[in-house]
Amino acid sequence: MSTRQEANTFIITREDRSFDPVTLMSEGLAIGRAPDSELNLNHPTVSRLHAGIRKLGGRFYIFHLSPSNSTTLNGNLVHEKAALADGDVLQIGPFFLFIDYQESALSIRVRYQTTVRVGEVEQPTASQQPSSEVPPSGDAVGADSQADAAAATGGVDADEGALDVFWEKRKREAGKVTRPSPLRPRQPAPKLGKARFNWKPTRDLERPWPFSIFTWGVVVVGLLSVVAAFSYTSAFSPAPVSNAHARASLNTSPAVAREPNANSCTTCHTMRTNMETNCASCHQTNGFAATVTAPHQAAGVGCLSCHAEHRGADFRPGIASLSADFQKGARFDETCAGCHNDANAKLYNGRRVFTPHGGTFGYPVVNGQWKWEGIDKEAWEQKPDELKQLVANWPVASADEGGRRSAQFHALHLYRVRTTGGLAGTAEGEVSCSTCHKSYGVSLDRETPRTTCAACHNGKTDTQTGRALIAADKANCTSCHVQHVLDKRHWNPSLLAAARDQ
Ligand code: HEC
Ligand code: HEC
Ligand code: HEC
Ligand code: HEC
Ligand code: HEC
Ligand code: HEC
Ligand code: HEC
Repeated sequence: MSTRQEANTFIITREDRSFDPVTLMSEGLAIGRAPDSELNLNHPTVSRLHAGIRKLGGRFYIFHLSPSNSTTLNGNLVHEKAALADGDVLQIGPFFLFIDYQESALSIRVRYQTTVRVGEVEQPTASQQPSSEVPPSGDAVGADSQADAAAATGGVDADEGALDVFWEKRKREAGKVTRPSPLRPRQPAPKLGKARFNWKPTRDLERPWPFSIFTWGVVVVGLLSVVAAFSYTSAFSPAPVSNAHARASLNTSPAVAREPNANSCTTCHTMRTNMETNCASCHQTNGFAATVTAPHQAAGVGCLSCHAEHRGADFRPGIASLSADFQKGARFDETCAGCHNDANAKLYNGRRVFTPHGGTFGYPVVNGQWKWEGIDKEAWEQKPDELKQLVANWPVASADEGGRRSAQFHALHLYRVRTTGGLAGTAEGEVSCSTCHKSYGVSLDRETPRTTCAACHNGKTDTQTGRALIAADKANCTSCHVQHVLDKRHWNPSLLAAARDQ
């Protein structure tokens, strides 16, 4: 016998799909996952060319062609080929193929069943079995078909060579893919059958991260940094700010600030306004005005020249310019005497500074002229009326500037200032003409006054610690050169007669 080129008739009923039965005229029936198979069973456990059915000597045979997946006939593995009898059940992957001989045609009913595993084949029931029908070959039927098929193989041995050629050719064709799918993994070369499960996903069809993830990422990170900037402000600070600016309450009385700073950074550091404007605007109360003297302003000396910040929590900016030795972090060149020093070669808006009045206490009369300019106009307004009256009535007051300054100086010191350091005075311990002049009138004593200044305008005791801020033999610069002229707190309250202190 040779392989005949005749066409056989296959009637295929797909119960797994809603197709009408199809009649196929074909030499053989290729069964597999390949789309061009005559019987296409699309499932990963089905090989591209899994099996074939072909008629040999008036009988249909199933040929198992897959190297990796199995084909069973009535629950037994088909190794190479087996004859098919009426009522046989083939299983390929999850598909059940019910064989039915119809005259010379072969009817195949395809059913898809997921839960049943290999070997647990649903045996056709007696009613399903078309027992009345006799296969065209007139050979064995039903359960015996396997044995029968084995016997039958003997008869087709001669055709085997030709058959192998036939199926090999089909296999090769099945391997060829008309158009490579874009889903096909590029590396390594595609494999067939079970090897399909070694398939690695490619990334080209993966959905890219949506842009919103990026946007939200930026938003979240941005929010976290803003939160961090406000909750951990000290992390951005060069050093802690002073307790005075960290406190959440006001301690001084009368108050020197409008509100507590409570460790806020943005009260001093702002984008638009100058820092010293911020300092001055908060340090503006009924009892205090943060002003800068005209000569300092002209020289570019401002709040920060005298009040440093970020020198640690215990650093007190209020006294920094009075002494460099009193606290850690204070610098001599930031004190009155340190900046106003011959050794300081720096220029301030083009001006040099010198050690004033020989490094001692200043004296208002230089070369017989009243050089002291008198107190600030605004500060003078604040003085008690009796003081103004005293100036108006001052006997030596002359129309010239020197007379005005002399009258102001005398009025400031007379009858309202306590005597100290063994200086003479009234019975009440207040300053009088004799405190400074041993004699006055025609023979005015102009020498004694020079020695008196140091008795009162010296030293300073720190009110917080009771320690000496300025030593007793050193000049207290701000007692003669008041910096914050509207400051109600006096440089040395004990020197003012209580009753007359406003
Ligand atoms: C009382 C006012 C004040 C407060 C409050 C304040 N600073 Fe400052 N800060 C200053 C001054 C004064 C300087 C020195 C500026 C200068 O020299 O020009 C400064 C400087 C800085 C500098 C720059 C340091 C440098 O070398 O230039 C940083 C950063 C800074 N402060 C961060 C902070 C942070 C963060 C906070 C909040 C915890 C804060 N500051 C609170 C007054 C303040
Ligand atoms: C030339 C130096 C100097 C300048 C400039 C200066 N101060 Fe002062 N300030 C002092 C001295 C010194 C004291 C200590 C009190 C005193 O001796 O008058 C002081 C005291 C203070 C006090 C504390 C007052 C108290 O009684 O506790 C505040 C607040 C203050 N200054 C704010 C400012 C502000 C704000 C500026 C800028 C607008 C400024 N100062 C400019 C020298 C200066
Ligand atoms: C938001 C308000 C506020 C701002 C802005 C502010 N301060 Fe103060 N400052 C205070 C408070 C509150 C105190 C403590 C007063 C109290 O406890 O009654 C204080 C205290 C001080 C003292 C006295 C501190 C001491 O040693 O006892 C000085 C000096 C001072 N500030 C200077 C400045 C300077 C300079 C700036 C600008 C760089 C500034 N302040 C900005 C609120 C402020
Ligand atoms: C950082 C340097 C510096 C510091 C600190 C400083 N000054 Fe001055 N001061 C100057 C400069 C610069 C001038 C202007 C110089 C000039 O006009 O000859 C000036 C001017 C003066 C004047 C006016 C001088 C005049 O010719 O009328 C007096 C008074 C004065 N300072 C007192 C003080 C006192 C008091 C302190 C301490 C609370 C102090 N200064 C702190 C730099 C400083
Ligand atoms: C705190 C010290 C002090 C007291 C108190 C004082 N004087 Fe003077 N007086 C001076 C000084 C300083 C001068 C300037 C001396 C010089 O030219 O060297 C002066 C100068 C004068 C002059 C010269 C005129 C002038 O303007 O230069 C007369 C007059 C005078 N005093 C009278 C009095 C009388 C009267 C009293 C008491 C009612 C008095 N003084 C209290 C310090 C004082
Ligand atoms: C017995 C103590 C005493 C003696 C001595 C004394 N002073 Fe005074 N002086 C004071 C007092 C207190 C004030 C403050 C008066 C006030 O605030 O109204 C003052 C104020 C001043 C002022 C004005 C400060 C301001 O408010 O601008 C000057 C300047 C001054 N004295 C210089 C001198 C000179 C110079 C001498 C030496 C000739 C001298 N004093 C001697 C106690 C004294
Ligand atoms: C007892 C009062 C008194 C004391 C304390 C005092 N001065 Fe004076 N100072 C004066 C008088 C008065 C003048 C004006 C006469 C003069 O120029 O000598 C003056 C002038 C100055 C001048 C202007 C000098 C010039 O050449 O134009 C400066 C700067 C000055 N003092 C700074 C200081 C400093 C810094 C201290 C602290 C170390 C200080 N003074 C302490 C009273 C004083």
